Order: sequence, then structure tokens, then C-alpha cells
Amino acid sequence: MSSKSTNTKLVIWVKEMAALTQPDNVVWCDGTDKEWNAMWDIMVKGGTARKLSEEKRPNSYHVNSIPADVARVEDRTYICSENESDAGPTNNWSDPTKMRTKMNEMFAGCMKGRTMYVIPFSMGPVGSNIAQIGVEISDSPYVVTNMHIMARVGQNVLDVLGDDGDFVPCIHSVGVPLAEGQKDEPWPCNPDNRYIVHYPETREIWSFGSGYGGNALLGKKCFALRIASTMARDEGWMAEHMLILKLTNPKGEVKYVAGAFPSACGKTNLAMLTPTIPGWKVETIGDDIAWMKFGEDGQLYAINPEAGFFGVAPGTGMATNANAMLSMEENAIFTNVAETDDGDVWWEEMTKDAPGHLVDWKGNDWTPDSDEPSSHPNARFTARAGQCPVIADEWEDPKGVPISAILFGGRRASVVPLATEALDWNHGTFLGTIIASEMTAAAFGAIGKLRRDPMAMLPFCGYNMADYWGHWLKMGKTEGAKMPKVYYVNWFRKNDAGKFMWPGFGENSRVLKWVFERCNGDAEAIETAIGNMPTLDGIDFDGLGMSDEDIANLMRVDTEGWLSELPSIEEYYATFGDHLPEELTKQVNNLRNRLEASKQNVA
Ligand code: GTP
Ligand code: SPV
Ligand code: MN
Repeated sequence: MSSKSTNTKLVIWVKEMAALTQPDNVVWCDGTDKEWNAMWDIMVKGGTARKLSEEKRPNSYHVNSIPADVARVEDRTYICSENESDAGPTNNWSDPTKMRTKMNEMFAGCMKGRTMYVIPFSMGPVGSNIAQIGVEISDSPYVVTNMHIMARVGQNVLDVLGDDGDFVPCIHSVGVPLAEGQKDEPWPCNPDNRYIVHYPETREIWSFGSGYGGNALLGKKCFALRIASTMARDEGWMAEHMLILKLTNPKGEVKYVAGAFPSACGKTNLAMLTPTIPGWKVETIGDDIAWMKFGEDGQLYAINPEAGFFGVAPGTGMATNANAMLSMEENAIFTNVAETDDGDVWWEEMTKDAPGHLVDWKGNDWTPDSDEPSSHPNARFTARAGQCPVIADEWEDPKGVPISAILFGGRRASVVPLATEALDWNHGTFLGTIIASEMTAAAFGAIGKLRRDPMAMLPFCGYNMADYWGHWLKMGKTEGAKMPKVYYVNWFRKNDAGKFMWPGFGENSRVLKWVFERCNGDAEAIETAIGNMPTLDGIDFDGLGMSDEDIANLMRVDTEGWLSELPSIEEYYATFGDHLPEELTKQVNNLRNRLEASKQNVA
């Protein structure tokens, strides 16, 4: 099919990629409903997708992958910078020349028997000066439909690109060419040969062998975080794994809060929570990624570069996240969840009681007595952000929203208290670098294992992590900068019985209220060795039915626990050699001194 673009770079690139991958035909995507329907038609006929009941969930589809292709593959994700030290010790590095040879081998003829889709997309409102354009080439109709929701796709993107505009080329293949007459699999993928490859200097993405989420929807983690983080370093802005929410107090005053939590640690839930405290309102700007640039007033302004939510399904229900449930009532995609007998979907904790019979995500009959969960723990819904009942009016404002506070958090069963405020930007940066979190099902790996995930960016930073910390510190030194206040929160501290002490979800509004009041200068704090903590009445525990012991434990500064973490922080820092900013060594030493001094005071 003929090109829909007059952009020289794009036309040449598409020709080259078609010559390399040898698809049966090439389709330029326009993001229309007609295209959405055509893609689903192919996927339903091919056994990839099932249309959900039009009465239950209009215009929505259910897809199951194979069990080997259910999450991001971090060990197969590469940052191919010219110098290994620019990828740093936390990324897999591979020599770009060698990797190019390898990719050319893998992609040669890989789209035989398939259609190549060319998907022009904008991350951020089309035409905004914060937005960026990418073009994804993919042989997966599942990718096309998900990109319709997650990014802005269509001819208007090509119009903005014009004849000589620049874009990030992103090529994706499921990696399964079809011989003539060969029948396709419902979920084609090539799990033994997965490569998620980034060239940060030339700003290119090559993804092979997986059809799943962050491996295949290349505008998301690959572009909006890994490539964008390197753009942000070069251009003086920030690309972060953060939700953005709008918080309104009972007087009608507004503050915007961003929050970095590792994968499956609560961003989507916090971004659209229903406050339990009267008079407070939370609205959503974004649930996963924030791009932040300085405004003329020196504040950081954030946009959500995405257009949809690719959210964790299990654990999501009307009781915990009603606004997410209402966002996916129509025009939605469900991946690796169970089917109900009446043509809908179900997953663990969607409702209090499970249906009596389901077909699970692997296609087997399931009843509440079954040994395995009905849905994969990393099952996902894809929903349009505009359908969220609490989406903020300004969520597509091209200039972004001014950020007053940044929250850091992770899953920590011990040591880290419910809420701590950083002493200043450098201390806040330090707190971000020491985030550790128990691993979740969002990536392949040992679930529950504690690992360092600085700024929740471990899998997503496109360059040397220590240089990235240096970039944070540098942002704070920018002339006239009014940096947000920084908080370290933990919804996941457990008591001796192994139970979460904090009820979480809508109750997290109690912590947001304290953050708001601190930003306004309306709340007191106690200066402790680890930072500023709420006073006893700073956070309202009324009506939660929590024991005094649990409350005390949630708010406790575990001096010994912190002291025993310091060697592992120093060991971790040492892995970065001379890339580690000196300021961070100072911060550890200061923390040790403050902890030792507080021990003396108590003794
Ligand atoms: P990604 O999309 O992978 O980046 O995840 P996320 O950070 O957006 O996490 P999400 O909000 O989807 O939550 C992940 C899981 O944690 C879900 O099963 C939630 O039910 C659960 N969860 C979210 N918030 C809380 C909370 O405050 N307390 C507890 N106990 N669980 C939570
Ligand atoms: C995450 O893992 O942080 C996600 C899901 O948001 S994915 O798009 O698959 O990366
Ligand atoms: Mn995420």
C-alpha cells in the first residue's frame, strides 16, 4: 500500500524495514474506529481475541497470551550506547555495532506471511511542544489496537511531522514468519529469542519476539521512559515512572502531586483514588509516566504522555478502585484474565465472591475450588484515559500542570514508615535512590525478593543510573528552580502477624492531606534522623479501627533497621564507581550521623 506520509526520513525507513522484514503487505494506520474494527475482525477470526458481550461491555475484547509471554523481560532488555559505562551497571549493555548485526539477522524475513502496520503516534497532546512523535512498525494487530488507546494515533500525527519533522523509529515483530499456507498461532511470539533493544544515541527501538505490554507497545516504557530519559538528560527536563494527580482541599485549593512507585506498587490506584476523608477530591492526570519541564515561574510542569491506562487487573474492583473499573466499561481490552459464562471478564478480587464457573486465562474450566488463580497476576486492562470518571479537565493541557510534591514508595514489609518528608531536594533525591521494593509479577523474576529500584526507574532508565541521579541533583541547582517537596511513603509495612498494617487505597488520601498541608505550610512536622515526620495528630487515623500498636509501628523510626541498611546502600553505590555523585555519599554519611546522634539522645 502506498505511503500516507511525505516525510522523507519516514518513507525511506518504512521502505528499508519492509525490504528487511518482507511482509506480504504494508498498511499505514490511521487510528480510526474502522481500523479498530478491522483489527479485531482479524483477531477474532484468527482465534486471538474474543469479543465480550455487547450488553455487558460494549466494543471490548479479551485476549490471552501464552504463559511464556506475560510480562516485561528485563534480562532481554538492552541499552546499546556506544560506551558501556553510559548504560551503567544496572542495564544490560551490548555493543551497538554487534547488536545491529544481530537485529538485522533476527528481523530478516521475520514478517513473511504477515502484514506490516505502520503506526504514527504522538506521546502527549498532538502538536504540544512537550509532546514527541514516534512511529511504530509492528506485525501485530493486537499492538495496533492497544496503541489506539495508549497513544494518539493517526493522520494528524503525520501532518505535524510534515516533510522533514523528526520522529523516533520503533520497530516491533512477534518474530514468527509464516510459510505459505501455514496457519498462525492465536498468540504468535518467539520466547526463546526475545530482544528489547534501545539505541539511546540514535534514538531507535528494536523489539523482537514478544507481543506483551511493555515489550511491544513501544511508545510506553521503551520510548516514553528509556529513550525519553536520555532526551531529558540532554535537554534539561525529566522523564519519570510517575503518576500525576490533582488534589483539591475542602476550600477548593488545588495542588498537583506526582508519585514514583515500582511496577505493580500502586500508581494507578493512587492516581484515581476515592478519598475517604470528607471534602477532599482526587482527579487523575496520568497513572504511569510523567514528563516534567520547567515553566517560566521555575516550577516543574508535568504532562502525561500517554492517552490510556495499561493497568494491573487482579486486585482491581469497585471496592478498591472504582474509577478504574468505570474507565473500562466499554472500548477496552483485557489480557490474560478469565471469561465468565455470560460473556464478560473476571479476575481475582474484581468482586468479593468469585463466579461459580469461569474459563481461566489458560483456557481451562475454573471454579472457586481451583488451586490456581483464574487470571495471571500481571493480567492487564487497556482503557482510554478520557473514560475515567475523575480525569481532570486539564489532563491534556499542553503546558502541563505545576507539581508541588513528588512521592516515592515501594513495597517494604519493614523499616520504612508510612510517610516521611525530605529535608530538601538533595535529600529527596537521596531518598529516591534508596527505594527498595519487593518484586512483583510485572516482570519475570523472583516475586517478593527485595531489590533496589531507584526512583522506580531500575528497568526504565536509558542511561547510567548514577548519571541519572546526577541529573536529578542538577535539576535542583537550575537558576530560579522551585523544586517540589519530596516524600517517602510506604503502604505495605506489615505487623508481626504478616498483615498490612495500613488499609491503603482510598485511605491513602489521609497521607495526601498531610502532604497538601505541608506544601501549604498548614501542618507541623517532627524533625527526625530520617526526615520530617507527621506529628501524632498530623495524620488522621480516626475511624480506621487500627490498634495503637499498629499506628505506633507505622510511624516508628526504626533506627537500628535504618542503620543496618546503610552498608547495603554503600555497597550498592560503590557499584557505580566514579559516576556516583559525591552529594549522595555525603547524604549517606549525614544520615548515619543523624541516626547515631538520635541513639545517643534516647540512651
Ligand atoms: P504498573 O502498571 O505495573 O506500573 O503498576 P502500578 O504502580 O500502577 O500499580 P497498581 O495501582 O496497578 O497496583 C498494583 C497492585 O497493588 C494491585 O493489585 C493493587 O490492588 C495493589 N495496591 C494498590 N494500592 C494499594 C494500597 O494502597 N495498599 C495495598 N495493600 N495494595 C495496593
Ligand atoms: C510496568 O511494568 O511498570 C507497567 C506495565 O506499567 S508494562 O507496560 O508492561 O511495562
Ligand atoms: Mn508502570
